Amino acid sequence: MKIGAVEIPALARLAPMAGITNAPFRLIARECGSGLTTSEEMDAAALLTGHPFADAIAAYYPAERPLAMQLLGKDPDLLARAAERCQVLGADIVDLNMGCPMPKITGKAPWAIIREVVESVSVPVTGNGDVHSMAEARRMVAETGCASVMIGRGALGSPWIFDESFETLPREAQRDLKARVIARHVSLIREHFREKYALIQMKKHLAWYTEGLGHATECRARIFQTRSPEEVWEVFESYWTSTHRAVVA
Ligand SMILES: Cc1cc2nc3c(=O)[nH]c(=O)nc-3n(C[C@H](O)[C@H](O)[C@H](O)COP(=O)(O)O)c2cc1C
Repeated sequence: MKIGAVEIPALARLAPMAGITNAPFRLIARECGSGLTTSEEMDAAALLTGHPFADAIAAYYPAERPLAMQLLGKDPDLLARAAERCQVLGADIVDLNMGCPMPKITGKAPWAIIREVVESVSVPVTGNGDVHSMAEARRMVAETGCASVMIGRGALGSPWIFDESFETLPREAQRDLKARVIARHVSLIREHFREKYALIQMKKHLAWYTEGLGHATECRARIFQTRSPEEVWEVFESYWTSTHRAVVA
């Protein structure tokens, strides 16, 4: 699929999630096969005033590209100027946040609405909502006619969801791949963020990486009690080793 002149080289891609889809996680998703990544939402006014927080959100790894930067705001002039700024910063696409879901309006995404949109517009439509595997992504395309699919929560703790070949790998090879992805993700977090924020990100993502493994609740409680990146990694690594009988390389 193409968005304007930008070729999106895969069916599925990582959905924007504030506080989560920062540069390290986006690069991991991209390396796993996400066709495009989108920054966390950036307030148009904050981006234009050079607010340090906006600058940090705009940071990206060149290897992430193609990259969309997402803007949030209500003033059309500010949004237009902020879009130009995104272009200067290197965005391939500027994405306008038209509203985030709230718990009371989410739970099962009505795919029928995606089909209605596809039938009503001439531009390619990206479907999104409650996709947890590439098989489900393909089912969404078949049922709605959308041209591509965005995956948000389904990628938390499972960025390998974007890897088309993952499901075909033997269990042992899946474990090795997961171990490599997790170790790389943690090392990117540690190189990209200052220690305090790196610790927050490591806790969040490592807790997600324990999803579906035995006795994960106990491990997650220990993860959230840790006070340094070294300590949280030690807790996670020993848990991983005990559940997988293999050391994360
Ligand atoms: C924690 C969280 C943060 C989100 N932040 C954004 C955001 O900054 N911009 C946006 O357009 N959508 C945001 N979303 C919506 C997601 O991009 C996506 O549309 C939604 O989660 C449904 O997809 P999913 O079922 O695959 O998770 C957020 C969703 C979650 C769960």
